[in-house]
Amino acid sequence: MATIRLGDIAPDFTAETSQGTLNFYDYLEDGWGILFSHPADFTPVCTTELGTAAKFKGEFEKRNVKMMALSVDGAASHEEWIKDINETQNTVVNFPIIADEDRKVSDLYDMIHPNADDTLTVRSVFIIGPDKKVKLILTYPASTGRNFYELLRVIDSLQLTAHHKVATPANWEHGEKVVVSPSIPTDEAKNIFSKGVEEVKPYLRLTPDPTA
Ligand code: BEZ
Repeated sequence: MATIRLGDIAPDFTAETSQGTLNFYDYLEDGWGILFSHPADFTPVCTTELGTAAKFKGEFEKRNVKMMALSVDGAASHEEWIKDINETQNTVVNFPIIADEDRKVSDLYDMIHPNADDTLTVRSVFIIGPDKKVKLILTYPASTGRNFYELLRVIDSLQLTAHHKVATPANWEHGEKVVVSPSIPTDEAKNIFSKGVEEVKPYLRLTPDPTA
């Protein structure tokens, strides 16, 4: 098991899921991916997270992001659990959940942190770019459900900064001012960003979101 860091190639795998056997790279095609782990089936926080993820699927699709979840229980268990999620969260789980009984994918992505729990996965999130490189890693404890608005916000930032020479400030959301990349001199920035550049400090230059 190797440590995965930002910029690394996301390991590929073929796994049994709630939607049959899937190869991760084939599933992602040329788009973005989000892989997130859940400690176990039939647990309360996970139930709310998967229901929320299902409700957010349209927002992820707009951004060309495919979701794949993981839990260390088997496919038959997932099938029963999905019925509960659909019923209690008033949704339809419409993305695959890996049945990682042998911990193959959990180990590959280092999702089990033995000092937290020997067998259950923590709540890991990996965002993977079209180049199959890892763009973001988040690790939450089992007791804290994730914020899916934050995942969308990060994807908006990743997709913006992949195509424009900008970075996004604290609490940024799509449409708000962005920061000019430190590597660009202000004179050059004024040519690049037609909507204008505000120099707050020589190292802190703001410009309107170029995509808004
Ligand atoms: C949950 O998903 O509710 C959960 C799972 C493991 C530990 C604590 C909470």
